[in-house]
Amino acid sequence: MKTWKIALLGLGTVGSGVMAILHTHAERIRKQTGARFEVVGILVRDLQKPRKIEVNQSLLTTEIEAIWHREPDIVIDAMGGLDPTLGFIEEAIRRKCHVVSANKEMLAAYGRHLHQLAEEQNVSLLYEASVGGGIPILNTLSQQLNANRVTRVFGILNGTTNYILTKMEEEGLSYEEALRQAQDLGFAEADPTADVEGYDAFNKIQIIAHLCFGGHMQALTSERTGITSVRTEEIELYGKLGYRIKLLAAAERRGAAYGLRVVPTLVPYSHPLAGVKNEFNAVFVTGDVVGDLLFTGKGAGALPTGSAIVEDILNAVRGNTFTPDRETYAAQEDSGNAEEWTE
Ligand code: NDP
Ligand code: HSE
Repeated sequence: MKTWKIALLGLGTVGSGVMAILHTHAERIRKQTGARFEVVGILVRDLQKPRKIEVNQSLLTTEIEAIWHREPDIVIDAMGGLDPTLGFIEEAIRRKCHVVSANKEMLAAYGRHLHQLAEEQNVSLLYEASVGGGIPILNTLSQQLNANRVTRVFGILNGTTNYILTKMEEEGLSYEEALRQAQDLGFAEADPTADVEGYDAFNKIQIIAHLCFGGHMQALTSERTGITSVRTEEIELYGKLGYRIKLLAAAERRGAAYGLRVVPTLVPYSHPLAGVKNEFNAVFVTGDVVGDLLFTGKGAGALPTGSAIVEDILNAVRGNTFTPDRETYAAQEDSGNAEEWTE
């Protein structure tokens, strides 16, 4: 039975979730894959920091060279940020390691480049955890909806802001108190500006657009507004009128281009997105033949995110990788509307 060597970059909220699942579900994973997994090194910033999970201290290092010295087969990015992370991931791919990442900031900015590198080195690049926490949305878009042309994706893609809006409405918490709770629960980014100003949701919708619309289409329009100006009085007022404020992210195909938008939106109570609360996320996907699909689940936190990473590890050993849509022509050049053929 092959043993796959894993290097984990980061042992915070997400890294701890991954370690917990690899430990508690080791036997199940072995049976499902016919393989064993061994964490051979964990990169951290501070060796003295108290950890949320017990790990063998000899695995921890602050030196990336010590990670390469342990010759991993799979490198997991659970540290976030662009520098030095991007350099580490490029190096991992050059060393022919499969890469699993939760880092939406890096994937939104350098996803195309990393896909090209991974393809050159014939390794897997998987990043389910970067969008929607535990919801298998990227696997669905990349592996399950290949005959469909996806025309639109929209929904709630940030757990922190959804948690804040829920707590402000239901418990009357101040914005600051609700944000503090989201940080204490490990939902928020290291710099929560990314959450509350809508950058995080925008990164996620960009990643989705890259997978659905491919590298050949252009973002025609983009708009990003966060929730910092949403006031408790507004939440109450719109509530009386039958609406909830939700930070919605959307990517929509328009001919040979697409538009991206992240904006606080009034959602009527009768709409399924109005019932999505706390750190939960929800994503509507419209395919040109399947119609509307809805996915929902926990969008942040150690175990949901760890689940997405561990599933990616299993997918990597099965030889799977994410592939952006390969369509190279404009929608108007289609060979027909499937609905007309079914009449
Ligand atoms: P944390 O801040 O909890 O953990 C980050 C970890 O990375 C820490 O262990 C830290 O080390 C380590 N680290 C950071 N920078 C360096 C560096 N330069 N060198 C070595 N180690 C470093 O973050 P999260 O776990 O919350 O998030 C990690 C990634 O996952 C981010 O990309 C985030 O956007 C993404 N993500 C987070 C989710 C969540 O719910 N929290 C959900 C989905 C994705 P040390 O502990 O020593 O400080
Ligand atoms: N900060 C992010 C959120 C983590 O709140 O959604 C999950 O990507």
